[in-house]
Amino acid sequence: MSKIIVMMGAPGAGKGTQARLLQERLGLPQISTGDMFRAIKRAQTPLAEEIRPFMEAGGLVPDELTIRVVEERTAQPDGKGGYILDGFPRTTTQAEMLERLAAAQGHTIIAILVDVPFDILEKRTTGRRDCPICGEIYNIYFRPPKVDEVCDLHPETRLRRRADDNPETVARRLETYERETKPLLDYYAHTGRLHHVDGTRTPEAIYAEIEKAVTSAK
Ligand code: AP5
Ligand code: MG
Repeated sequence: MSKIIVMMGAPGAGKGTQARLLQERLGLPQISTGDMFRAIKRAQTPLAEEIRPFMEAGGLVPDELTIRVVEERTAQPDGKGGYILDGFPRTTTQAEMLERLAAAQGHTIIAILVDVPFDILEKRTTGRRDCPICGEIYNIYFRPPKVDEVCDLHPETRLRRRADDNPETVARRLETYERETKPLLDYYAHTGRLHHVDGTRTPEAIYAEIEKAVTSAK
């Protein structure tokens, strides 16, 4: 049966890194609410002004808007065979909506927790860079590009640093995660759909375990 793979984990745990590998190797689209909101923010429309304060404060974009964005994106034809959700759901309301969506679309849900202790997360976020062209994710401490601040695949392009990757906003994002999103782990665990993966290993080792969990899930 087709699946919705829900990537869970704290800010900087590696959800995006793993979702990109899953997209590339399993051929399912990666749907990242964070990436979609950042694209909206760059477009400088009234909607951008609506979401900016929440993102810059390390809080959550309101459920109503987030749900609308996810409904529209998952209705695209590329999601027919299933998809990867990176950064959604983050609240109980979003999780409830996802149950209804999955039932209506005929997909089953599998949740993957990429688990990383808090003390590692700071370097993961403050050291992160990404390529504005291809979205490749680097880290100045753990996964540096070949040339400082330049994408390996797009040598003419300087890497970006996310506006919310400063230590103050990261601290707020971690608090928001603890308060709003962590309780969802129990929800998926109780329904037997949570796979816990040690996120302190190499991206390849983590990926191998996730792929096994995904392909063996019913
Ligand atoms: P979002 O973009 O989802 O941010 P996040 O949850 O804080 O997660 P990150 O993207 O920071 O981390 P990640 O787990 O993807 O890690 P990555 O793979 O990049 O959300 C941003 C904001 O948008 C939210 O704060 C909120 O305001 C809003 N938003 C989004 N979704 C929402 C929703 N559903 N509802 C309401 N609001 C929403 O890796 C991190 C770093 O570590 C990288 O540098 C990477 O190279 C490195 N790394 C990765 N894996 C490894 C490894 N195994 N070993 C060493 N380094 C590694
Ligand atoms: Mg991410």
